[in-house]
This record gives sequence, C-alpha cells and structure tokens, in this order.
Amino acid sequence: MTVEIHNAKDIEAMRASCEMAAETLLVVGERLKPGMTTEDINTIVHEDTLKRGAYPSPLNYKGFPKSVCTSVNEVVCHGIPSARVLKDGDIVNVDVTTFYKGFHGDTSATFYIGTPSPDARKVVEAARRALELGIAEVKDGARLGDIGAAIQEYVEGLGCNVVRDFVGHGIGRKFHEPPQVKHFGKRGTGERIKTGMIFTIEPMVNLGRWEVEVDPKDKWTVTTADGSLSAQFEHTVVVTKHGCEVLTKRAKPLRMSENVSLLFG
Ligand code: MF3
Ligand code: CO
Ligand code: CO
Repeated sequence: MTVEIHNAKDIEAMRASCEMAAETLLVVGERLKPGMTTEDINTIVHEDTLKRGAYPSPLNYKGFPKSVCTSVNEVVCHGIPSARVLKDGDIVNVDVTTFYKGFHGDTSATFYIGTPSPDARKVVEAARRALELGIAEVKDGARLGDIGAAIQEYVEGLGCNVVRDFVGHGIGRKFHEPPQVKHFGKRGTGERIKTGMIFTIEPMVNLGRWEVEVDPKDKWTVTTADGSLSAQFEHTVVVTKHGCEVLTKRAKPLRMSENVSLLFG
C-alpha cells in the first residue's frame, strides 16, 4: 500500500485536529488527581472533545467502547476506561485521538499519579526520550528503519524493551493508514520517508520483556506478559525537507508528567 503525500490544505486541516488533541491532553493533565477513576478521564476527554466541535476517534472504532484509551501500570495500550481508581504511585497513559473536519490527530502521554517509584520514573522517562529520539530521525530521504533503530538502541541500552506488536501509523482522513512505523529495526532499511507524509511515532516501552498479552475477555486491554510496568508517548508528525513538524506539539508543559522527574530528582 502506498503512503499518502499530503498537500498544504490537508496539512493545515491536520494542524487543527492535532492541536485539539494536544489541548485535550493538557486539560487531562490539569484535572488529574489521585482518587479519580479512569472513567473520569474518559468523561473529561469526551466532553472536552465535543466542546471543540470534534469527535473522539476511539469511540466505536472497531467496537472500542470509550472515547479515550487509559492504560495503567502494566497495561501497555488500549486500556478501557472503567471504575478503576488511580492511586499514589500509579502511572497512566492517556491516548487522545480527535476527529475534526475530516482529519484525525493522535497524541498520548504517560502521567504520574502522586509520587513515582524509581521503576516508574525509569520507564516513563525512557518512553518520553525514545519518542524524542525517533522524531529526531525524521526528514525527507531518511528511512523508517532509522526511527526504529534509534528508539530500540536507546531503550535497550537502558535495559528496557520496546513492544513489537503495536506500531506507529500513517494518519489523516483515516485513524490508521500506511505506513507502519516500527519502534525497532535497523538503520538504512524500510520505506523511504518523504516530505508531506503524516504519521505517528508512539513507542511503548516495557521495564521488563517486550512480549505482551491481550485480555481474552475484553479483547482490547494489552498488558506486559511479565507484569512489568509499561509507558508510552505519542506524537503525530508531518515530514518536511530537513526534519518534521510535530503537529501535536503542546503549548505548555503537561502537568503531572513533564518536569516531574526534575521535581523528584
Ligand atoms: N490511539 C491509538 C493509537 O495510537 C489507537 C487506539 S484504537 C482504540 O493508534 F480503538 F483503542 F481507540
Ligand atoms: Co496512534
Ligand atoms: Co494514539
């Protein structure tokens, strides 16, 4: 399948949906607190998205029952909001996707609830940096394998591991489209990256082994096979001649995520 090259008009439309997704994630950060349920996060995202005149892409996507994915501790991705209460020391990834005027914007971050354990801090900061290093590889003429290699080398160098079963993806008029953006691989391999491509980078980093399991009952919740902690960050980017533009860039730091490692030393 070929990868779409977006024109200036599409990119402008993507800026709007991506900016909304980024804003909604900031709102989640502002309202998060221990004692809240993941269902409360769903309510915040759902209402904030509708308020913007947009639609939460996850809702009813392939049967997903909620408006956002909330993945706590050993949950890798696709956690379904529920009555689960967030307690001190938990980490939670909130993955927001916003559909506005025909285009999807996709971004996620992992938040610290209260005081993180050293392990929680390690895996969250590894995932945050892994995304930055992946983004730094993106430019016209580079290859998709360059992104995966940069992420894998960094993460494995810390003794953590990159999830293989879920990858970044092209995005635009559809939530998921080609290419597949692996967070592991070899430099100089894979499809060539071209100006105007729009895709996500969204490394899932496990503190332990990379293998995952899908909940046989709900068919969505993905957990680490060894029960270790997992963290993820995601941005949507558009490729430019000499780099990329992060379409889901935030206007300010995320409360309860960015700069927390500085606070705790
Ligand atoms: N937002 C996820 C991603 O980054 C996909 C979630 S699919 C859902 O690709 F159905 F679970 F919402
Ligand atoms: Co995505
Ligand atoms: Co996402």
